[in-house]
Amino acid sequence: MIKDATVVFGLAWGDEGKGKITSRLSSAGQYDMVCRWAGGNNAGHTIYKDGKKYKTHLIPSGVFHNTKSIIGPGCVVHLESFFKEIFYLKENGFNTNLVKISPKAHIVLDKHIEIDKTRLSGKLGTTSRGIAPCYAEKAGRTGVQAKDIPILHKSGFIWDEKLEGRILCEGAQGFWLDQDAGNYPYVTSSTTLPYGACSLGIPPQKLQKIIGVAKIYDTRSGNDPDFPESLFEISDLQKIGKEGNEFGVTTGRKRKCNYLNLDKLQYATETSGCTHIIINKVDILEAVNIFKLFHNDSLIEFQNMKQMKQYIETALKTNLPELRVIFSNHPEQI
Ligand code: IMP
Ligand code: MG
Repeated sequence: MIKDATVVFGLAWGDEGKGKITSRLSSAGQYDMVCRWAGGNNAGHTIYKDGKKYKTHLIPSGVFHNTKSIIGPGCVVHLESFFKEIFYLKENGFNTNLVKISPKAHIVLDKHIEIDKTRLSGKLGTTSRGIAPCYAEKAGRTGVQAKDIPILHKSGFIWDEKLEGRILCEGAQGFWLDQDAGNYPYVTSSTTLPYGACSLGIPPQKLQKIIGVAKIYDTRSGNDPDFPESLFEISDLQKIGKEGNEFGVTTGRKRKCNYLNLDKLQYATETSGCTHIIINKVDILEAVNIFKLFHNDSLIEFQNMKQMKQYIETALKTNLPELRVIFSNHPEQI
């Protein structure tokens, strides 16, 4: 039986530092399973364990902490990349027997990657991982599911159990990349909002904690008219990008940076039902001494971080007085 579920998801355009949060939460050993509910290896998670840095794209971070890690029915799996990740984890001493794929997850075929590369990546700035063409086939009901792949059965990767106990649901991408919420067509092809976690087989009322992760400034990988190339020319934003090391984990692309859009963050926090919000990378703005954000469509500048934090917290709590606002990443506060 499912006891309860915690959802960690991105409140922006991905790259908010979700990996760090889910990894810290699962390392506390309080979860029985860590599950991904959407996306594929378009995501990129950076995880630090015992002083070493690891990068994964598809496999949930539970595997780093000896916890069963499930790739859910709403995910898409490119087999070669999956096995590459399995070998990488094995080589590094992690127990890959803990990794399971839902029989209903869809398989990204090489033809999907080809279509993505030739028809979509230039226009939309996708990650070229075949995501949109694979989900298109899923919706068109011509797709291939994990259950149809003999090697996944043979090597014991097909998940044939029920969800049990306390579940940690690990989001990928972010609120504004959601196919319904975002700036379509500059979105990904899955549900990145926390309700998407229910597609794992979790009743909505079991979602006890909904933890939104944001950064104290905005970044965007890929094309989006809301993030014009001209942002690269603003010297304060260049400083932030450099100090924050804003390069894609999956594509290596330089991310466009902008000051936090607090109007958008407020909307995302309120409509997604967050119980907690974690705002990362405060130290980056402190290092470059830039304290600015957009609110009510105007740019506001603060004297220091303390003022800026207070302003953000007050704004976020206006319509959500119960919301826990956490700057930094101390899951012990959650
Ligand atoms: P796709 O998911 O590869 O189709 O890419 C669609 C859009 O989502 C592009 O703008 C990508 O840059 C963006 N995107 C997809 N996954 C991530 C992610 O994990 N972090 C940041 N942006 C992402
Ligand atoms: Mg990421």
